[in-house]
Amino acid sequence: MKHDIPKILSQMTLEEKAGMCSGSDFWHTKAVERLGIPSVMLSDGPHGLRKQDTEGDHLGINDSIKAVCFPPAVLSACSFDRELMRAFGDVIGREAQATDVSVVLGPGVNMKRSPLCGRNFEYFSEDPYLAGELAAAFVRGVQAHHVGTSVKHFAANNQEKQRMTCSSEADERTLREIYLPAFEKAVKQAQPYTVMCSYNRVNGVFASENEWLLTKLLRDEWGFEGMVVSDWGAVNERVKGLAAGMELEMPASGGYTDRQIVEAVRRGELDEAVLDRAVERILTLVFRWEENRESHAFTLEDDHCFARRAAEESMVLLKNEGVLPLDRKERILFVGEYAEKPRYQGGGSSHINSFRVSAALSAAQAYSHIHYAKGFSGTADSYDEVLAAEALEAAAGADKVVVFAGLPDSFESEGYDRSHMDLPACQNRLIAELAAVNPNVIVVLHNGSPVAMPWLGAVKGLLEAYLGGQAGGEAVAAILFGEVNPSGKLAESFPIKLSDNPAYLNFGGKERVEYHEGVFIGYRYYDKKETAVNFPFGHGLSYTSFAYSNLRLDRDTMTDGGMLTVSVDVTNTGSCAGKETVQLYVADRTDCVQRPLRELKGFQKLSLEPGETKTAVMELDDRAFSWYSTELGEWYAAAGEYEILIGASSRDLRLSASVRYETERRLPVHITLNTTVGELMEHENTRPLARLITKKMDAFFGVGDDNSETGKEAINDEMANAIVASQPLRGVISFGIMSPEEMRAEIAKYSD
Ligand code: BGC
Repeated sequence: MKHDIPKILSQMTLEEKAGMCSGSDFWHTKAVERLGIPSVMLSDGPHGLRKQDTEGDHLGINDSIKAVCFPPAVLSACSFDRELMRAFGDVIGREAQATDVSVVLGPGVNMKRSPLCGRNFEYFSEDPYLAGELAAAFVRGVQAHHVGTSVKHFAANNQEKQRMTCSSEADERTLREIYLPAFEKAVKQAQPYTVMCSYNRVNGVFASENEWLLTKLLRDEWGFEGMVVSDWGAVNERVKGLAAGMELEMPASGGYTDRQIVEAVRRGELDEAVLDRAVERILTLVFRWEENRESHAFTLEDDHCFARRAAEESMVLLKNEGVLPLDRKERILFVGEYAEKPRYQGGGSSHINSFRVSAALSAAQAYSHIHYAKGFSGTADSYDEVLAAEALEAAAGADKVVVFAGLPDSFESEGYDRSHMDLPACQNRLIAELAAVNPNVIVVLHNGSPVAMPWLGAVKGLLEAYLGGQAGGEAVAAILFGEVNPSGKLAESFPIKLSDNPAYLNFGGKERVEYHEGVFIGYRYYDKKETAVNFPFGHGLSYTSFAYSNLRLDRDTMTDGGMLTVSVDVTNTGSCAGKETVQLYVADRTDCVQRPLRELKGFQKLSLEPGETKTAVMELDDRAFSWYSTELGEWYAAAGEYEILIGASSRDLRLSASVRYETERRLPVHITLNTTVGELMEHENTRPLARLITKKMDAFFGVGDDNSETGKEAINDEMANAIVASQPLRGVISFGIMSPEEMRAEIAKYSD
C-alpha cells in the first residue's frame, strides 16, 4: 500500500514531528502508532551486517548477530571491479531485507590522506574517481532490494584523532577535486537513501550543521533526494543542524534535542516548514522500507562463498620473483600466527560477529602438506626467542617459506590513528632472519593500511591480503597455490617511509588540521615530486602477462559537453587465464594551472583466456579533463592539449595519445596596477598588452640597441625580458614609460 506522506505529515503534532528527527534508541527511528508510522532499523555495515539485538553501541564493543564478514573496503577496492561491488551490494541488500535492517550504514568513501588514519581499512582509496565508482556500484546493489545505504562520512573525515571536534581545513578546490567527488558520484549515479554527515568540522563549521555541505552542495548542486543522518553523536547544535539540512539525529537524544526543536519553532526561531521538510524526508525513508519488503532466504554458507570470491578478486600480488605459485611437490613452511588466526577485519563500529573464519593454514592443506612454525604472536610485539629459533630451523630445511605478517588489532582501529607505519619490530626482524636462511621467502600481509617494508629487497614474493574478511584465508591459499590467478590492483600508493607522505607535516592536528598539500594526495603527490614508492597506485601482478595495443580515440578534438570514447586492446600473452585492469589517466598539458601529472579517469577489468584479446572501452566526459576553478565557481578544462595514458598501474604506462580540447571558455582576467607584465604574457588574450608594454620598456631602456655594447654585457635581451616580466604595471607608470591615463585605457580594453 502506498502511503500518503503529506497527509500523514499534516496530522502530526509539533512534538511528534520533532520526535521523528532523532532515534528511539541506538538503532531505530521512532514510531507514531496512532498514525501507523513504524519504526525502522539502521545498522552497520558496510562489509557485513552488525545488527545488535540487545545492547547497542557504535564502537563494536557489544555483540551483534552472527553474520558474514566480507572483505573491508581496503581490500574490495583493489578488485577495481564495478560488477563485483554491485554483486556485493546485492548480497548485503538481501541479508538486510531478511534481517529487518532498512539502512546499512555504508559505504565509507573518505579519502586516504595519510597511511596513519585508523579507519583507512574502511575506506576505498586515495583516488576519488575509483572510490566514487565503487561506492555507486555498491549502493545500486544494496538499494536494488529497497534497502537504504548511508554514504559516509560526509565530509573530509580523514583522521580519527579528535574526530568529534577537529576542523579539516582545506581550500575549496581541494575539497571539490579530492575530498568530495566520491560522494558526488555516489549521489548523482546511485541516489543513496541516506548520506551520513561526519563528526568533524569542515573549515570551522561542524559537518552536522554545515549548510554549504548539506544543502548547497548535496541538494542544490548534486540533486540529492534522500535524507541526511548524523554520525552517531555528531550533533552539536540540533536546531542549527536541522536548518542546515541535517534531518535525522542518531542515536536517541533522550528527547532533549526534540524539545529544543519544538521550542525553536514556538519561539519563531525555526520555520516549521523546515521541520516539515525534514520529517517528510524521514517518512519517505520509513515508508519506502515498509512498502517494499522482500522475503529473502539467505544462507550464511552461500554468502561465505561470495566473501571468498570477493577476496580472491581483490588480493594484490605485489612482488613475485619466480616463487609463486607454490608447487604442491615442494616442502613448504608457513610462519606466523596469522596463518592459523588471520587478522581479517578492523576494529570499531564495522566489526562483524563472523559465523566462521577460515585460516590459510587449514585451507592450504587441501593443496599440499604444509609445515608450520608459529614464529611470532599475532597480537603482541615481542620477539620470542624460542618461537623464532624453531621457525628459523624449519626454514633452513624448506623449499619455500611463507610468512604471515601484519598489524595486530591494537595497531589500527576506528577511534584512533597509528603513530607510525611500521609492522611490529619482532616481525620485521624475523622476516629478515628467515630471508637470511632461506632464499625463497614470501610474505603475506594482513593490514588495513600501508606498512614500511625494510625487508622488501630480501624477500622474493609479497602478497597483499589486506584484511581479507572471514574467507580471506581460503583466498590466500587459493592464490598461493595458483588455483586463483591474482588480479587485484592497489587502490593506494605504498610510500617507502612515512615522511614521504604528503600529509606528513600536517596530519593529526587536534583542533585544526591544515590540508596544505592541497590536491596533491597519494600518487598525485608522489608522481609530481618524482618520489620513489615501494608500490605505486594501481600496481598488481598476475601469474600471466598482458600486452596492450591499438589505442584508439574516437575523435581528436574534445569539447565542453562532449564525450570521448577510448578503446584499447589487451591480449593475454601468458599460459593461464587471468584478469587485467586497464587504467586510463588523463594528463593536462595546457599549463593553465598547477595540476597533478595525471589522474585516473577510467578503468576496466577484463577476463582473458591465454592468447585471447579483448577491447576495453572507456568514456570520458568533459569533467574528466577539468579542474575546479574557484574564480569561475565551476569545473573548467582549458583549451589546449591533453594526453590520454593507458597503463597497468599509475607508473606502468604502456600507451598514449593526444587530444585537443576546444572551448570558448576562458578564466576571467582581472588586471590591476599590480598585475605583472609576465602575468599578462601567460594568457593568450592579454599577451598583446604585454607585448606593447615590453616594446615600450625596451625602447626606454635601450634593449636591442646595437650601439650600447657595454650595456649588453651587463644585461642581455633574455635577462632584460625576465626582469621586465616581474614589473607590475604601476612600475611602468612610475618610470614614465606610459602615462596613467594611457595605462588605464589599455587595462580597460583587456580586463573582464
Ligand atoms: C561511526 C559510523 C557508524 C556509527 C554507528 C560511528 O561511530 O563513525 O561509521 O556507522 O558509529 O555505529
